[in-house]
Amino acid sequence: MTTTFLVIHGPNLNALGKRETDVYGNNTLDDINETISTFASKNNLELTFFQSNHEGEIVDTIHNIGSTVDGIIINPAAFTHTSVAIRDAIASTDTPTIEVHLSNIYSREEFRHHSYCAPVCLGQVSGLGINSYLAAIQGLLLHLTSH
Ligand code: DQA
Repeated sequence: MTTTFLVIHGPNLNALGKRETDVYGNNTLDDINETISTFASKNNLELTFFQSNHEGEIVDTIHNIGSTVDGIIINPAAFTHTSVAIRDAIASTDTPTIEVHLSNIYSREEFRHHSYCAPVCLGQVSGLGINSYLAAIQGLLLHLTSH
């Protein structure tokens, strides 16, 4: 059976490539998805992608798809710092979940230093750009093979 991970991108990540390029770089979301898909397929993994600017849609996706996959990688973007609803959705699933950020949220404004989601995730990767996603994929794989 193929191992499948769900990759959730939160609000404004659809604007990557034109949004604050000094912080987030020039890659578009499609570029990121393509790079991580290629990496995943080399590891016999399948990725399913979801992006939304709407909190409830992310909650619904965690409920509806989250339990059918082997792992979740989520960049909750701004909802990281505000959303108890997304935190509770992550907490409600048994699917191992890793939070990722392109930028290092701890070297930025203070309001970004707190994540509602991280405490209910397996772990968090922050600040490695696109490599945050690749590290999360590897982390989930290592977690699954050791459990
Ligand atoms: C982000 C960091 C968040 O603070 C911010 O709101 C984002 C992107 C990142 O990937 O670095 O939209 O999650």
